[in-house]
Amino acid sequence: MHSPVVLGVESSCDETGIGIVSEGELIGEALASSAPEHARFGGVVPEIAARAHLEAVVPTIERSLDAAGLSLGDITHVAATSGPGLATAVHVGLASAKALAWALDVPLYGVHHLAGHAAADTLDHGPLPERSMVLIVSGGHTSILKVGDLAVDRIEHLGDTLDDAAGEAFDKVARLLGLGYPGGPVIGRVAVDGDPTAFDFPRALRGGGEHAFAFSFSGLKTAVARQVERLQFLGAGPDDLPVADLAASFQEAVVDVLLMKALKACKLHKISTLVIVGGVAANARLREAAQVRCDRAGIELRVPRPSLCTDNGAMIAAIGDLLVRAGGRANTLALSPDPSAVLHQSQLPALV
Ligand code: KG4
Ligand code: ZN
Repeated sequence: MHSPVVLGVESSCDETGIGIVSEGELIGEALASSAPEHARFGGVVPEIAARAHLEAVVPTIERSLDAAGLSLGDITHVAATSGPGLATAVHVGLASAKALAWALDVPLYGVHHLAGHAAADTLDHGPLPERSMVLIVSGGHTSILKVGDLAVDRIEHLGDTLDDAAGEAFDKVARLLGLGYPGGPVIGRVAVDGDPTAFDFPRALRGGGEHAFAFSFSGLKTAVARQVERLQFLGAGPDDLPVADLAASFQEAVVDVLLMKALKACKLHKISTLVIVGGVAANARLREAAQVRCDRAGIELRVPRPSLCTDNGAMIAAIGDLLVRAGGRANTLALSPDPSAVLHQSQLPALV
């Protein structure tokens, strides 16, 4: 029996990502981004993203095959994000994946985008341990999850954000500080020159109880807005706001609350591996602080390389490859997307 060669298609937001994974190994990938087309609107415009996916998907598949040194006939399985994400964007990638699976006569797996984020780490650090705590920090989601075998076990949510996601907070604060879109990378760069203790921004829901592992970032965003208004009231013009200090103090508040809760969850559930994934996991300060705090707590930290944290096709191929190797049944070609799917299982819809 030949090794499976899984091609993954990601199109949930503004990145058209294609990855090719075989037995846990990334053998080729390519990415096209429509982010520059959204910049002037300050956020992703779904129709523009969908049209860009339609233009990019075939050339991106070709580039990923070239990178892997393979041709279409070598692909044995296709996996695609079937939710969550922008509906029109998911439609394009999923329809393309269906066409490919049908034309090649190979099985199709509809997968959960966030399970893909978690699986991305296995491409860098090998199989996950029997039990791990996964902190997902993306543009649309922020959750602490108890994870076993990603391909088989049900995923348990210990806590989710009650309002904005961590990445969304970065994007909104960047807009407020006039730094543009997407906000995460630019805040990370600007914050390098700032003082993280300059402003004491709130860390919400720090207590125990029902919200011990839940997050709330909308109050933090408002606190930054109030601080900007206060500085302007005191006479600061648009060019003399302490943007680096504001960015660094905001970033520190996000990083602090994320790690405080993730480590508390590891301790309470006696789990010794913390995996941090999703776009915000590309943040240098989060990566550095996580390493220091995990070392201190005796917890093994796993964070994929930054290009595997932000949306990409390799992560979708990775979760597809895990499902294939676990012997999971494929979806039918009647599969339809679920743009607001909650992460309980890696495959969508869950097949029982
Ligand atoms: O996982 P992702 O690429 O897409 C979603 O599934 O949402 O995450 C995108 C989010 C955006 O909000 C972006 O601002 C944030 O991740 N992000 C970052 C960094 N790079 C991307 N946030 C902080 N620091 C970064 N370096
Ligand atoms: Zn994502």
